[in-house]
Amino acid sequence: MIRPHILQHPSKLLRKRSREVKDWDTDLLALIGDLAETAASAGGSGLAAVQVGVPLRVLAIRCNDGGFISLVNPRIVKSSGRVSALESCLSVPTGQHRCERHARITVEHSKRSGVQTLEVGDPELAVAIQHELDHMNGVLIVDRGIRVAKAS
Ligand code: CO
Repeated sequence: MIRPHILQHPSKLLRKRSREVKDWDTDLLALIGDLAETAASAGGSGLAAVQVGVPLRVLAIRCNDGGFISLVNPRIVKSSGRVSALESCLSVPTGQHRCERHARITVEHSKRSGVQTLEVGDPELAVAIQHELDHMNGVLIVDRGIRVAKAS
């Protein structure tokens, strides 16, 4: 189901730190599906659950093949390289910001069966995951980056 409302900056909930997922219940499975569907429908490269008003550590991210993957309780355990990228956010309507990020990351995340490790060597995907991880900690591109004016 496409979630009808993506919170917009400045919203207090966007500044809240999201909670760890503990229960793999039907609500969580629905949320995982909804995030991918909502991000795709809005033309975004990713979405964190807090952006649809659910402060849980779940994100959906678009891969190179156009499909979406979901990560639950993700955390970066290793990083290297630097990259500076122009980032947009479905919750920040005022335009792109140039942000500094790690170019490569290793992420641990939870599956129902236990913790898994994901190596991300593609800087574009690494940036997108770091962007969504920021959302889980209440951080937005307006805090990290330099605003780049929209072409008029
Ligand atoms: Co965003």
